[in-house]
Formats: sequence, structure tokens, C-alpha cells
Amino acid sequence: MEKIKSFSDSINIENKRVILRSDFNVPIINKLIQDNTRINLSIPFIENLLKRRAKLLLISHLGRPKNEKDLTLSLKPVFNYLKEKLNSKMYFHSEKITDKTKEKISFLNTGEIIFFENIRLNKGEIKNDDNFAKILSSIGEIYINDAFSCSHRKQTSIHKITKYIKKSYAGPSLMREILTIDMALNNKKKPTTCIIGGSKISTKIGVITSLVKKVDNLVLVGAMANNFIKFKGDQVGKSLIESGSEKIIKEIYKNAKICNCKIIIPEDFAVSETADGSANLRDLSNLKENEIILDIGPQTIEKISQIIDSSKTVLWNGPAGYFENKNFSKGTISIAKKISYNTNKKSLISIIGGGDTISAIKSDVSDLSFTHLSTAGGAFLEYIEGKNLPGIEVLK
Ligand code: 3PG
Repeated sequence: MEKIKSFSDSINIENKRVILRSDFNVPIINKLIQDNTRINLSIPFIENLLKRRAKLLLISHLGRPKNEKDLTLSLKPVFNYLKEKLNSKMYFHSEKITDKTKEKISFLNTGEIIFFENIRLNKGEIKNDDNFAKILSSIGEIYINDAFSCSHRKQTSIHKITKYIKKSYAGPSLMREILTIDMALNNKKKPTTCIIGGSKISTKIGVITSLVKKVDNLVLVGAMANNFIKFKGDQVGKSLIESGSEKIIKEIYKNAKICNCKIIIPEDFAVSETADGSANLRDLSNLKENEIILDIGPQTIEKISQIIDSSKTVLWNGPAGYFENKNFSKGTISIAKKISYNTNKKSLISIIGGGDTISAIKSDVSDLSFTHLSTAGGAFLEYIEGKNLPGIEVLK
């Protein structure tokens, strides 16, 4: 495999304008940050660059703005948060990035930061536009992508910028993410178990199809598993279902059989008639027509615990239930605790990925430990599926 150009301490950045592409795409409600994990993880590297006297240009996206004026998706709350944490002068650049920007930011001194407004509010970003890439690259001299979680996006600040800027590197978090995931996938100690949750099967079909060929156990939880339960001929009440998934599920079971991969789906549940209701326990025989499956039940939790006990490597992405309502977070929290315990006591290799999964765990318990906690969701899945991520390809 071609080597990725990674940023190192020997690269001289003194007095240089360094564009750092981070991922500050964090949940924000009423201007309040709900989970600052991604921001906190980026701070040591930002401090390192400032200590080495770079002029830092910080870029990130937030959400998926509907148009260029969508200020509901402003990064100002992240700027305010970072400003409190960092001991450096920091300026917020709310304007669009144009051919005038380089001149406008020329006042910046070494050890200071310009924090740019949501990059997706610039027209050319999503389109991976050549012209925008030229403008964006012209404001810096060195580019560092430290946003593994965005590297599956072919967008200007991740991809096309590298065509025009002289020097591009992968930052330390990005390198850590891929090295740890590679280590777990390539030298995985068997048996290997992958737990995939979340709500939409369509977004995870690729990874499931690829994983049945690579792992010993594939545990499916979350609303996504409903499609498998229905496929098996059981009732799912009023639960979320994606129509048209039967053909692909049939294919998945066929491949799993060929590759000797065991597929495990929930056999009991916590249900309610509404998502904000309280939990009632059901199994496949007594689920009512008007009930929604919102979490896995105790027997399924026990079964998954046993599978984790019998595994040497566990990969996990996606919550087991509707954790936003505490009545349905038990499945996710139990899985997290079990994986953490076995990581500490039984040398389990555990790789956990996905913004939702982390939010679910953090909303309840914070003292868990895993071999690697990836902040990436979609990028994590595409990477373990074996896809080349555009943002990483351009750094080779
Ligand atoms: C993520 O949260 O997975 C990344 O920030 C990418 O966000 P996106 O799916 O909107 O590109």
C-alpha cells in the first residue's frame, strides 16, 4: 500500500500559514454544544502547531446546510468553546472565502488562529470545485487533514485542495485512526465479532455485505435489525422498516453461510407505542401490532454478552436502540460496559466507531475504555468495508 504522507515534528511550520481541516461537526442545540468529544480530541494537536509558531487557519464543516445563508449551522459556538480552552489569540472569520480572503487575513501573527465559519456555507465546497480549491489553497502554505471522519467525502477542503497547495499531510488523529483500524482488521485475533446498529440498513448494506466475508460473528441491532427479523417471517409491529431490503438480506445470508459467519439478530425487545413512552418487554411471540421495537431485551443482551466473551476482537458501530430516551438505552449501555470490561480484563481488542455510538455511551457513562474509540461514523464504516477514502488517497 502506498504510504500516507503524515505530518511530523521535523516539518518546519514556523511563521507559515497552516490550514488544519478538523471535524467540529458536533451536535449543537440552541447554540449549546451537546457533545464536545471531537473538539476536545483536536486540542493537543492545535496546541502543538501553535507552540511551533504556525499561523493557524482552522476549517471544519457543521451539518448539511440547505443553502449558503443557513446560519442555523454556524460554527460560532465551537469557536467560543475553543477560545476558552486555548491560550492564544483567536479570530472568527464569518465571511465567505474568496480571492480577497488571503489579503484580509494577512494581519495574522505566529501562534494565532483564524477560525473559519462552516466551510459548507461556501458554494464550491460540496461540489469539490476546482476554482474554490484554488482560492482555498491560496490562503495557506501547508495543509493538514486531521479529520478522518470526513475523509470519505470528495469535497474541496478534504480532497481538491490538495491539488493546488504545495504540501499536504495527514494529521496525527487521522493517522492514529487508520493505523489502529488497520491493526485490528489485518492482524485481527479470532474469533472476531462485529456489532452493527443504527436505524438505516440502506446506509450499511455495503459494510454488512463485506463484513460477512471477514468476521466470525455479525451481530445486528437497532432499527436496522427489524428488516432481518421481518425477513425471517416474524412480526415487528409498527417498527421502522425499509422496504425493498429483502433481496439484499437474502444475499447476505447466502454469503454468511458460504463464509461461515454467524449472523445474530435480536430475539427479545423493549417496546412502546411511542418513541417517548416507557419500556415494555416483549419477545417474538407476543409483540403487538401497534408496538415499536425501541431497544434489545435482556435475553438478547445476555446472548451478545456471551458472544463478546467468546471473541478476541470486537468492532462496533451504531447504537442498539433509541438511546435518546433513557428507557431504551439499556441495550447500548450494556454492550458498551461489557466490551469495556473485557478490554480491561481479558485483553479484548475493541474498536468502537460512530458519533451516535459515542454520544449514546457518553450520555450515560464516561469511564469506559476501549482499544480505540473512533470519532468517525460513515468514514469508519467505509474504511472497514475496504473502500479507498478520497481524502486519504490524495495524501499518498
Ligand atoms: C460525520 O459526522 O460523520 C462527519 O462529520 C461527516 O459528516 P457528513 O456525513 O455530513 O459529511
